[in-house]
Amino acid sequence: MTIAMIGTWRMAETGITPAMAELRAGGSARDALVTAIKAVEDYPYYQSVGYGGLPNAAGVVETDAAYMDGDTFRLGAIAGARDIANPIAVAQALSQEPANNLLVGTGATEYASTRGFELKNMLTERAGQKWEQKRQELASKNLNPYDGHDTVGMVALDAQSRMTVGTSTSGLFMKRTGRVGDSPLPGAGYYVDSTIGVATATGMGEDLMKASLSYETVRLMGTGLSASEALRQAVYPFIDRLTKIGQHPREFSYVALRQDGDWGIATNVEFTFAVAQDDGATQIYIAQPNGDQPDIQLLGRAMDQMRVQALRQIKDKHSQVYKALKPNWKIYHKADPDAKTKHYRFGINESLTDQELIDIGITPFPNLHNAYETYIDIHDALLNSQTERLSNLIKTYRSCGEPMDIAIATLRKNLKGVLNASQTRLSNGPLEGINRKIKALKRSCYGFANQERMFERIYQLIA
Ligand code: GLY
Repeated sequence: MTIAMIGTWRMAETGITPAMAELRAGGSARDALVTAIKAVEDYPYYQSVGYGGLPNAAGVVETDAAYMDGDTFRLGAIAGARDIANPIAVAQALSQEPANNLLVGTGATEYASTRGFELKNMLTERAGQKWEQKRQELASKNLNPYDGHDTVGMVALDAQSRMTVGTSTSGLFMKRTGRVGDSPLPGAGYYVDSTIGVATATGMGEDLMKASLSYETVRLMGTGLSASEALRQAVYPFIDRLTKIGQHPREFSYVALRQDGDWGIATNVEFTFAVAQDDGATQIYIAQPNGDQPDIQLLGRAMDQMRVQALRQIKDKHSQVYKALKPNWKIYHKADPDAKTKHYRFGINESLTDQELIDIGITPFPNLHNAYETYIDIHDALLNSQTERLSNLIKTYRSCGEPMDIAIATLRKNLKGVLNASQTRLSNGPLEGINRKIKALKRSCYGFANQERMFERIYQLIA
């Protein structure tokens, strides 16, 4: 038995913490989900959800939201809706209706009004100012008008193994009146089946709605795959497919949770999200796209230090070895350097493949050579989630020089975490996230009249 909640973006933490308290007290995933999303909708500084959300091109806040119950498959949604204080609550109410489950525009507002849901103007002074500023920028510069569309997607699992999912967003900033994203669309923006698991998306709705990847992720988890593996198989091939046909997918992020509490994420952009399970505190993670994990960054830095040590030993700054090592350092970080295509290399005055260039640089320096081989092997094992191979490489590493020895010793000390991280595309999330926030606070939160004002400032910074 496990309870859990996951929400997209850092703002989800505002809702997850009180909602998890409900779940811990025996509350249902149905209620906890609405508690969590309502808290995010009510917070005026989150500028892509609920009150304080950024307006459309006409200066009006239009919201999309959805709710789905994984026990009954009942779902409700609103789209392009105005003046509804808590879109998620209305979406949940619609999920109980025998028909008319997805209402748009005035139909949604009328329903909310007749059912006694609070109506209010969702435009805050702050969001209005931002809109006016953007409008002036757009008039004077040739800018992409569309940004700021960070949907809160939330999933919940209660102690009775019931699962729910919800989304809420004000959609793209400066979108056209009536524009609807993926968030109210089942299968694309969200999907849940309590016997399997749940997935939800955030990012550019116009891309996310090109495939029902939330549904596909749940289906794949149903075949026995972990949440991370299901997302990996559902999401990345589709991103690759769009890229191949020249559609250049914009921001794309998903979270998924299985009924047994296993969770994962997939993203093509730096992505923060919040997770809470059982008695643990809510954790904020930062995920990096492209599987670029901190462990490999650590080894990359060690290899660079050894490269610099090697450079210091070279007297002739015009030699081929020097020219191969000094300006071409980025090539040494590639997981799979090109061994086929030759490019003319200035300074070396020859056409060489990346691999040939690397060989010129490392061959005279046995320690650097070994450090490079270690880096490449571990990078490959990490990228391919080969946990056993990774474990062997770290355990059987033979000393090849100080910086790399220290880096490997660090990996050995944290072996369990490193092996866990190799199964997902996560960064060292909580630590990195907290460190960054502490730095931001140090810079900006100084000399406030009271604690409340300081917290307001913090939320402005991190929303
Ligand atoms: N994913 C939210 C939207 O595009 O509106």
